[in-house]
Amino acid sequence: VTKVLIDCDPGIDDALALALVAGSPSLDLVGVTTVAGNVDLERTTANALALREFLDLGDVPVAAGSAGALLRRDVRAAHVHGRSGLGDAELPAPARPASPVHAVDLIIETLWAAPGEITLLAIGPLTNIALAVRREPRVVEWARDFVIMGGTYTRGNHNPAAEFNMVADPEAASIVFDAGWTVTMLGLDVTLTALVTTAVLDRMSDLGRLSALLLPATTSYGMVTAEGGPAIHDACAVAYVLDPSLFTRVPAVVNVETAGRYTSGMTVTDFAPRDRRPNALVATSLDVPRFWDLVLGAYTRLGER
Ligand code: BDR
Ligand code: CA
Repeated sequence: VTKVLIDCDPGIDDALALALVAGSPSLDLVGVTTVAGNVDLERTTANALALREFLDLGDVPVAAGSAGALLRRDVRAAHVHGRSGLGDAELPAPARPASPVHAVDLIIETLWAAPGEITLLAIGPLTNIALAVRREPRVVEWARDFVIMGGTYTRGNHNPAAEFNMVADPEAASIVFDAGWTVTMLGLDVTLTALVTTAVLDRMSDLGRLSALLLPATTSYGMVTAEGGPAIHDACAVAYVLDPSLFTRVPAVVNVETAGRYTSGMTVTDFAPRDRRPNALVATSLDVPRFWDLVLGAYTRLGER
């Protein structure tokens, strides 16, 4: 069983990532922290709380974190995720509140209590993680593994140069990539290869209560055609933690651009660095059929519960 702490900004695909965790008995979710990203912090936190109950995540702590980027003005993606952040999905209002501790403290304390045991998984802008490594640099040693959904070595989605989670807080991303650990980067290069086709959507439509989240969320997020609709980026990062062999990974030096006029948040990826040790393991391909079997298998298990 792998212990995992997730930092997220739900977010449709964040919700689908949490559903994948909930349906995967080999993962032990030890904490959920929220950050402003797709929508404001208040909404990402409310969504995480609603998802904790809807997905039966037990009493895992949900802690709210940073309400904005370290230096930049807000960059949000409500045009993609809807005003609520969960598209057309409507979940029951949560009964239980967020944990009283700040996300950054929860990250530090949880990793401190179990050094070498917990995989830290970040699927939103990296503000909380940057603050955590600044406040307690040993987080870098305590994490068993550090995995992000973010970045790209080919082409961005928020703009041609950069992926959303990087654009939303480039300074934080730069701090995190330079923190001294190996960042496993699952970027758009792989996440955009696993698209929700009508066949995938069919397999999501018969999952009892769970379909009430998966279907409206996924379809509101983009056109689904036989060839493919939206990607569910953040679920790829959970799939990686479940089964790294789904991905090809290549060591690289990744530098995050923070000074560009048109390129801020660009993850400049060097696969043949000459004078620096790689700081990242960058995913370059994904076994798409096995990915969907893994994801839909977990959703089916959860739907039957
Ligand atoms: C990433 O940005 C967000 O909109 C998604 O939730 C995902 O984490 C994809 O670029
Ligand atoms: Ca996200």
